[in-house]
Amino acid sequence: MANVLPKTVPKTMTAIEIKQFGGPEQLVPATRPVPAPGPGEVLIEVAAAGVNRPDVLQRQGNYAPPPGVSDLPGLEVAGVVAALGPALSKWPGVSEWKVGDRVTALLAGGGYAEYATAPVPQCLPVPKGLSMVEAAAIPETFFTVWTNVFERGRLQPGESFLIHGGSSGIGTTAIQLAKASGARVFATAGGSAKRKACEDLGAERCVDYRSEDFVKIIGDLMGGKGVDVILDMVGGDYTAKNIQLLAMEGRSVQIATLRGPKVEINLAQLMMKRLTLTGSTLRARSVEQKGAVAREVYRNVWPWLEAGKVKPVICKTLPLKDAAEAHRVMESSGHIGKIVLTV
Ligand SMILES: NC(=O)c1ccc[n+]([C@@H]2O[C@H](COP(=O)([O-])OP(=O)(O)OC[C@H]3O[C@@H](n4cnc5c(N)ncnc54)[C@H](OP(=O)(O)O)[C@@H]3O)[C@@H](O)[C@H]2O)c1
Repeated sequence: MANVLPKTVPKTMTAIEIKQFGGPEQLVPATRPVPAPGPGEVLIEVAAAGVNRPDVLQRQGNYAPPPGVSDLPGLEVAGVVAALGPALSKWPGVSEWKVGDRVTALLAGGGYAEYATAPVPQCLPVPKGLSMVEAAAIPETFFTVWTNVFERGRLQPGESFLIHGGSSGIGTTAIQLAKASGARVFATAGGSAKRKACEDLGAERCVDYRSEDFVKIIGDLMGGKGVDVILDMVGGDYTAKNIQLLAMEGRSVQIATLRGPKVEINLAQLMMKRLTLTGSTLRARSVEQKGAVAREVYRNVWPWLEAGKVKPVICKTLPLKDAAEAHRVMESSGHIGKIVLTV
């Protein structure tokens, strides 16, 4: 029968609520009912939940969850399947999961909690050899990088790729996936420790944007040809520079606008180099669209994860109750890779 939790699942759980929009101190532990899995969903007993920059934006009141989604923050978890919702023909696959299976899932919200529900198309098995903490750090960044770099940006083996914010959760993923795909990889990051981390992960050259000019340095390294694909979370004054650095037929994919969304560009350069400027957000996509990304990531990236060719970079783990501290760490921008909450 729908929406009845098994006796093994408690009725209430600890979750992290956003008391009101504002600073990290607004993230507070609270008692909430354990959510019941709806049709086509599983209930996950959360072992670890990834922290992402969009959670910070949500806490500040600048990134509302899509309609009908939990108000709790948290876009990705790993744990074990605790209950199955009723089968649903449009999202088949509930019956492929069993209580006790190790699962990692992309969520539209609700991950900062002891239990979370996820539509089955957004669930994948924990890659063999990876811990729950590592698995929880995968969905949001790996799905985002896959769909933007390889689907929208159409990065091909042998092409060149630049990621801005190379030391971020997104950046450390993008460097590794682009490198594993056979691309030549460049990055930008602030400071020498971050620069070194990006180069250790596989970037041929990471430009310290605080003291160096990425257009000049990467332009010279590419012999004036420019780069084929850029993944940009910065926007603002970077946009015109990206256009300057892109090669003929180059593609720039926008996933955030840390330096502002409104820019002035030279459309003549766009025409002369036949460039593509595009972008996307993951959270607003339908379950079917996220499921399609999940299947491609499973097919292409899971073998790399299980072979140890790529690995989520974990900077810090903190207990769930310390979510506020996790956001402070993220906003200080001192981290390299991912911050993960453990339950
Ligand atoms: N579109 C989507 O679907 C989607 C999905 C997930 C994430 N995102 C976005 O992707 C970005 C990265 O997410 P994340 O979770 O990986 O966050 P994160 O680890 O906190 O990374 C943010 C990075 O931005 C860099 N940065 C901050 N301000 C900057 C500036 N003014 N100029 C240049 N670099 C700057 C920081 O590095 P430095 O210290 O080197 O400056 C930091 O590494 C976020 O903006 C997030 O909102 C988008």
